[in-house]
Amino acid sequence: MLAVNPHADMREAVRGTFASLSFHSIDAAEFRDGELDSALGLLDADERQRAARLRPARHRARWVVAHAVQRLELASFLGRNPDAVRYERTPHGRPVLAAPAGGRQPVDFNISHSGDVLLLGITTGGRIGVDVEAWVSDDTADRSPLWETLSEREADWVAAHDDTYAAFVRLWTRKEAVVKALGTGLPDNLPALDVLMAEGSTESLLRAPDGASLKVVDLPSPPGYHAAVALTAPDVPVHVVANAPAASRFSLLP
Ligand SMILES: CC(C)(COP(=O)(O)OP(=O)(O)OC[C@H]1O[C@@H](n2cnc3c(N)ncnc32)[C@H](O)[C@@H]1OP(=O)(O)O)[C@@H](O)C(=O)NCCC(=O)NCCS
Repeated sequence: MLAVNPHADMREAVRGTFASLSFHSIDAAEFRDGELDSALGLLDADERQRAARLRPARHRARWVVAHAVQRLELASFLGRNPDAVRYERTPHGRPVLAAPAGGRQPVDFNISHSGDVLLLGITTGGRIGVDVEAWVSDDTADRSPLWETLSEREADWVAAHDDTYAAFVRLWTRKEAVVKALGTGLPDNLPALDVLMAEGSTESLLRAPDGASLKVVDLPSPPGYHAAVALTAPDVPVHVVANAPAASRFSLLP
């Protein structure tokens, strides 16, 4: 049924605890007749209700495809049928896999979508947060409110770049990945969440405002996008599936 099954392949290849990341195209224009209906048919009642409220149609179609891909990937990772993948929400609204009766759910996931790209992260150790953001430089836009989310040294780092917005988005994806791994929502004091890395480095360990230790990694991303992952279990190795940085294309037809 699946044209691409990167997380399951990864699970085969890697023993032990790991985090697997994959990019997927959710450009509804690329999908053939019947695929969108098929994707909608994969969603549960709650997801269908959410989808029905989304406008415009192009945005709704992307959301439906994103959630169908999420379900298919998690199903193959867990070795279940797609309709046996069940979600819950934490008190802060973070989606998680439902725990088995009387047990603990050892697998955590997180998604992010921006433009035509979905980033899905799955881990077998701790919690995972991901963020992907499209960035388009626009000299006429007033970006000044964004700088208020940065620490002083982050703001200096951004200001040293020719394309300050692209540099900002690089930092922003890290901050949001951390926030999503912690699952507590955006904190009031974003500048206190300093995510600057040593120059030339693509990963770092950082201490969150609540004292938790996290690993943050910049991911190779499709052109025009920046992406990052944060893991609450810093020792977990990160595997970006072979199709990155291009976004893979799922077949959604049974
Ligand atoms: C979670 C949050 C950071 C998402 O940011 P975003 O850039 O808009 O969206 P992304 O594409 O990166 O991520 C969206 C996905 O994150 C996940 N998500 C939702 N709430 C989450 C949370 N509290 N923690 C982690 N992940 C969350 C969902 O899977 C969501 O996908 P969906 O909307 O398609 O179901 C942001 O909405 C947030 O802080 N929410 C917390 C609750 C909150 O403050 N709500 C006020 C909104 S007015």
